[in-house]
Amino acid sequence: MDLYTFLYDLATGPLLWISFLTFIIGSLFRAGLYIMASRKMDKVTHEHFSLKYVFLGLVRWILPINRSVKKNPVFTILGYIFHICLIVVPIWYVGHISLWEDSRFGWTWTAIPDEWADYMTLTFLAIAVFFLLRRIFSKDIRLISTFSDYLLLVVTALPFLTGYFLSHGTLENVSFFGENMELIHMLCGELMLILIPFTKLSHFILFFFSRGATAVEFGRRGYSV
Ligand code: HEM
Ligand code: HEM
Repeated sequence: MDLYTFLYDLATGPLLWISFLTFIIGSLFRAGLYIMASRKMDKVTHEHFSLKYVFLGLVRWILPINRSVKKNPVFTILGYIFHICLIVVPIWYVGHISLWEDSRFGWTWTAIPDEWADYMTLTFLAIAVFFLLRRIFSKDIRLISTFSDYLLLVVTALPFLTGYFLSHGTLENVSFFGENMELIHMLCGELMLILIPFTKLSHFILFFFSRGATAVEFGRRGYSV
């Protein structure tokens, strides 16, 4: 068996399972650890737990009706668009849905039009480049950025870049990339999924707990959540 066949079988078989299971189980585990730690450390928050404050706090932060919108409108709006593309494209892109349909699960759902997937991918990539340049060139942000902040931004953007190349045959004439883009894309997607529970990318789930806890704390003290 040559190296390509070995890697291709790995990426379409065991590694696909490992990446999805690591993402799902790892994220639930991180959430569990967070709840256990906060039960010990934030006893007051748990004693005053209120679903109403949690709900109000999350709604204000998920919809753009919080203070950071006014403080930093451009960055906040770009952040929203970035996350909408990040969640919508991989789930509702027709090329991905047909993979689920052909899989042992046979799942299918309505896709977004191909042009939308293209525009959203390019928009996402443009914002990712902007975020990267902002981290590199803005002195204040560079000071609080760690190596992993840069790396994770790149890890998040790579499946979009390689997915776009793959579906458009962009580098088809460049020998190495032309022959291997499908494999490269799958490995990039799998790397991102595997890294989520172990890195700051776990904020996709921890965000809800930490924002919820802050809302309870603010609400109990009579501040605006
Ligand atoms: C519903 C789920 C999610 C929520 C509520 C959320 C929330 C946030 C917030 C509040 C920020 C900081 C400010 C901003 O950029 O607007 C952020 C940044 C970021 N998020 Fe998310 N996120 C979610 C899902 C994800 C996922 C699934 C990924 C990737 C796997 C991701 C990748 C990133 C990255 C790379 C940044 C840093 C951007 C930079 O360098 O400034 N997010 N997210
Ligand atoms: C985990 C395993 C993954 C597999 C097996 C996979 C597979 C594929 C395949 C086969 C295509 C091309 C379909 C076609 O040409 O019709 C594609 C395109 C694409 N994928 Fe993935 N993918 C994976 C993960 C991801 C992830 C995690 C993201 C983003 C977060 C992503 C984003 C994209 C994008 C943006 C496109 C191109 C959309 C466009 O046409 O502009 N993929 N993927």
